[in-house]
Amino acid sequence: MIKPLLLALPGYEPLAASIAQKTAFPLGQLEMRRFPDGETYLRILTDVSEMSIILVGSLYHPDEKIIPIYLLTATLRANGAASVTLVVPYLAYMRQDKIFMKGEGLTAAYIATLLSSFLDGLITIDPHLHRIGHLEEVYTIPAIALQAYPLIAQWIKTNIPHPILIGPDSESEQWVCQVATAAQCPYIILQKKRKGDREVEISVPDTDKYKNHTPVLVDDIISTAHTMIETVYQLRKAGMEDPVCIGVHAIFAGTAYTDLIAAGVSKIHTCTTIPHPTNTIDISPLLSTCLYQYFFSAPLP
Ligand code: R5P
Repeated sequence: MIKPLLLALPGYEPLAASIAQKTAFPLGQLEMRRFPDGETYLRILTDVSEMSIILVGSLYHPDEKIIPIYLLTATLRANGAASVTLVVPYLAYMRQDKIFMKGEGLTAAYIATLLSSFLDGLITIDPHLHRIGHLEEVYTIPAIALQAYPLIAQWIKTNIPHPILIGPDSESEQWVCQVATAAQCPYIILQKKRKGDREVEISVPDTDKYKNHTPVLVDDIISTAHTMIETVYQLRKAGMEDPVCIGVHAIFAGTAYTDLIAAGVSKIHTCTTIPHPTNTIDISPLLSTCLYQYFFSAPLP
């Protein structure tokens, strides 16, 4: 018999609690902290014997999280856990999906190989699938990529009258198109040229016929926010009002959040995949439904 047990990684207690409440899966306890020298101390406080463990966390700032997740997984197995599935609403390293210059590594694939070597399954939301089309191309364990677009579309339908969705680049077309279809509104895709880690150039097509619409800029990741900032500038130049900015994953590296606000953008909304003050779109229903189906091959009652 399958006995699921949720365990929250530090910072993800609210998300794990929300999943526990929706699925009625029990929530276990663990202690996890850093020793003064930076190494990880962990102790499992709940009996995990024969349990199917669901770790709820994130791979935001992955380099500091992967070793603790590995150590926790090994400790769970040593304490009798039947399996360990990692739920990470944000999956890191997915943009390093190509060797752009001689000497680089295909790090998206290397991380997938590493995680596949010690986990039994992985569930994530809107990983940056571009040149890698499906997670199974690089993961050798069951790896599920859920999509936040129905939740984003519902949020737009509820909160924004006459929206025109805007995707900042061709890579965004896949999810902007899905959001627009579900929200029953038009969309346009802009052209982006990336000139460096923190420099992008955006061009806007003719937007005259959408002057009476509310622009809604949708992207999967907001990292340095330069894509959003440059897009806002170009939309202003094209005579459109400032957009509502929606990102799935609120990375906001360094000063990105204050930079975006300083650029005059006041309406920023993100999904709860990475805890951030802009979180307004709750992804726990999506994860709860998926987890129940994953473990019991049945819809969430
Ligand atoms: C790019 O391929 C992604 O879809 C996002 O547009 C990009 O990650 C945003 O990055 P930044 O916020 O650093 O411009």
